Amino acid sequence: MARRKKIYEGKAKILYEGPEPGTIVQYFKDDATAFNAQKKATIEGKGVLNNRLSEFFMTGLNNIGVPTHFIKRLNMREQLCRACEIIPLEIIVRNYAAGSLATRLGLEEGMALPRPIVEYCYKDDKLGDPMVTEEHIAAFGWASQQDMDDILALSLRVNDFLSGVMMAVGIRLVDFKIEIGRVYEGDFQRLVVADEISPDSCRLWDIETGQKLDKDVFRRDLGNLTDAYSEVAKRLGVLQQSPASVTKPTLIN
Ligand code: TMP
Repeated sequence: MARRKKIYEGKAKILYEGPEPGTIVQYFKDDATAFNAQKKATIEGKGVLNNRLSEFFMTGLNNIGVPTHFIKRLNMREQLCRACEIIPLEIIVRNYAAGSLATRLGLEEGMALPRPIVEYCYKDDKLGDPMVTEEHIAAFGWASQQDMDDILALSLRVNDFLSGVMMAVGIRLVDFKIEIGRVYEGDFQRLVVADEISPDSCRLWDIETGQKLDKDVFRRDLGNLTDAYSEVAKRLGVLQQSPASVTKPTLIN
């Protein structure tokens, strides 16, 4: 078989050219990074879990009419997606104070915010993804006013959907990050949710105990990351088997 063409390799995923024009294949690696890749590790099973979890969230969004780039999962680590032009913004939606917001404004982590707060960061690893305002986005032409209206509406729909899905399994959606892409259809462009939605890009806390079930487990050395992600997958009914039994064949006597 001919070798696939690699389009891009990021910190947690590799993108390959897809089988048809306008498609790409997204491969989920086991690599975890934090603090703009100053902290790195390979965590066996993470890619498999994020592939499944992102499939679950993106499928749910597609089903309620929130367009995403996701087409279908291909195998344990890969999914077929529509090729899109990523808008160079990380869109963060917050329901509770945590992470950089808590630090920046001196808020106690876990404080309920009066309303969801949407923040934008300029996607540039060399600069450490600095936070920007709509003024910067308009002035530098990263997105139009119409795009920004659509991005805000999409982000809040994603927030409502994810909050509800997580609450139903006893998990609080504290905050999350999404990326948005442009898909061209003839003369029209449409915005779609792209990249991934997984515990790498969300803060998920058990409602009862406050236990962290997201990448903060790795960022803050709180325990085993795949155990945390498996717990999320199990509660959502996404993965019945543990990732260890998925990645390692077991001998059957
Ligand atoms: P923050 O509190 O560190 O700004 O993170 C806000 C949310 O965005 C949190 O759910 C983690 C997610 N996030 C990413 O997905 N990628 C990143 O590079 C960063 C810094 C945060």
